[in-house]
Amino acid sequence: MNRSILILCAALALVALVPGNASAHATYVSSTPKPDSIFPYNATPTSVSITLSEAVESGAGTIHVTNATGTRFDVPPVTPSGAGRTMTIGVNRTGSGIITVTWTAVSAVDGHFTAGSFAWCVQNPDRNGTGCSGAGLGATSSGAPVSPFEVGLRFIAFFGLAAALGASVLGAFMWIPAGRDPDVKETPGYRLGFQVVTNVGRIGAFGFALAYAGLFLLTDALESSGGSSSVVGSPYKLSVILSLGVGAVLFVVLSNAFTRARKDPPESTHRYLLLGALLGFAAIAIGSAGTHAAAVQSLGGISSYFGIDPLAPLNAIAPAIGTLADAAHIAGVALWVGGLVTILAARSFLREPTSVPLARIVLGRFSAMAFYCVGLVLIGGLVLALLLVGSWDALFSSGYGWVVLAKVSLFIPMIAFGAYNRYRLIPRAAETGEPAAAFRQLTWNVRNETAIGATVLVLAAILASLTPAVSVFAGSTEFTLNDTVSGIHIQMIIDPPPASANISYTVQFLLTWASNGSAYNFGKNTSVITFQSETNPLPPQTLPLDGPHGNHFFITTLAMSQPGTWRIQPRFVRSDGFDLITTFHVPLTGGS
Ligand code: HEM
Repeated sequence: MNRSILILCAALALVALVPGNASAHATYVSSTPKPDSIFPYNATPTSVSITLSEAVESGAGTIHVTNATGTRFDVPPVTPSGAGRTMTIGVNRTGSGIITVTWTAVSAVDGHFTAGSFAWCVQNPDRNGTGCSGAGLGATSSGAPVSPFEVGLRFIAFFGLAAALGASVLGAFMWIPAGRDPDVKETPGYRLGFQVVTNVGRIGAFGFALAYAGLFLLTDALESSGGSSSVVGSPYKLSVILSLGVGAVLFVVLSNAFTRARKDPPESTHRYLLLGALLGFAAIAIGSAGTHAAAVQSLGGISSYFGIDPLAPLNAIAPAIGTLADAAHIAGVALWVGGLVTILAARSFLREPTSVPLARIVLGRFSAMAFYCVGLVLIGGLVLALLLVGSWDALFSSGYGWVVLAKVSLFIPMIAFGAYNRYRLIPRAAETGEPAAAFRQLTWNVRNETAIGATVLVLAAILASLTPAVSVFAGSTEFTLNDTVSGIHIQMIIDPPPASANISYTVQFLLTWASNGSAYNFGKNTSVITFQSETNPLPPQTLPLDGPHGNHFFITTLAMSQPGTWRIQPRFVRSDGFDLITTFHVPLTGGS
């Protein structure tokens, strides 16, 4: 084996393990209210919505809302929305103080448990009482870090399926047809090598089924209270159980082919191999329906590249595109890597000088198929990257993005080896008087290509266990504008994010020293805010700001009554200097 290849594979697999420590699964993305929000005592939230990076298994999400004494204010049930990624619960009126939200969820995409919490603060009606500081802990969400055991099982599943499908297709469409050539049929390598081909398929199917049995045990399907509904409610669990079933049948079919190949001519096993290939493709379709790609909610990088609004109806086709791209990707991978593994296992029979006619047909046909497989892997991979990575920023700055980059960088030498075989060694085998030498070199290259392919499958197993970058980067869509006046930083937050006119908005201001970010607490309670429409001939409205609560001022108002651009001008009266005045502009589209 080429030493530099081994070092490259090992180095990239190690790099890829770094992000593996990140916690995967359904993690916190955003919520309404947001963590550390501050609410006036007379306008406390009446519901909580939490959006996670992955869909939650139906019935497997919980939200509790409590105050400092543990009194609960949440009003079940938890209702799912946003294709299962958002869970909402009603909330009774709470008093002032810190209100904590704790949530738990089981991901419908990978069957794992996550939990998290965040808090908001309700202002004390008594201005002299303890107010809300605005300083907070943000949102936490924790789940088990990516388990190497799970990555190992996913790798065995990918490798096993590749071997089973690759061997079935190579046997049925390359090896057996080669036997129609009388020169081939008589060679010992034809029958003996074929037994190796069917054995690779059978072992691959066994590995695939075993790995899915392990993945099934890793989910909580056996101990979860939801029982069968927890399986039906989770595309992931459903695909694991169905894959286990198909894997078991595939093993039986290919074991039959192997047993027959040991006593009868290869042709007698043709229909078993065809069935094996069919089951292999069925396993791919089932598997793809339970992946990140099948759970995407928007066209990700495709949307941002073509400027498609993330809420546009076109995004409804994203899950179908994701599932198709994943199926195409893994079909190309399985046929390519599976074929390589089978050739590698049967190489001693292909390298025999007597087996040159067999090698010419099998390797020639495989190389032709591999050409199309590379196309499937590339196009499927690019679409998956657009949907699941979503931006250049996410590609270069997220653990998930790094693993995709590591895969791409190994994809290149894999193609190089394949191209060298296809455009150099196979023609040379046809022209030269020494075809066996060319096939010997070719099978040597196949060894390197397979080693790289196996390493990429390890990376793919890590990738499938991580949270896609696009979900993590979705992030909260908090609307905030900032300005600095006289060395004081003024952050304005509008909740909900401004869109329609004539609805109630809470406009909050946090004042901090621009020099060090510490709270600026010299505002006075005679501070006001003026709303002026720049589009409609409406009189300006000047209203008192509630505060200061430390460095925090706010108002809940319907002042922005008409669509158009609004000029918002707070005036903070100070005890340590001239009034602080700044101006923000906010566009409102609908509503009036
Ligand atoms: C241009 C090169 C490639 C790109 C951009 C790419 C990208 C991706 C992405 C984004 C995923 C989705 C992972 C997820 O579910 O979160 C994926 C899955 C996968 N990739 Fe690739 N990949 C490439 C090449 C390869 C190669 C060369 C192989 C194997 C030799 C491979 C094997 C896999 C496998 C087995 C999966 C898992 C699919 C599943 O879970 O159903 N990829 N790839």
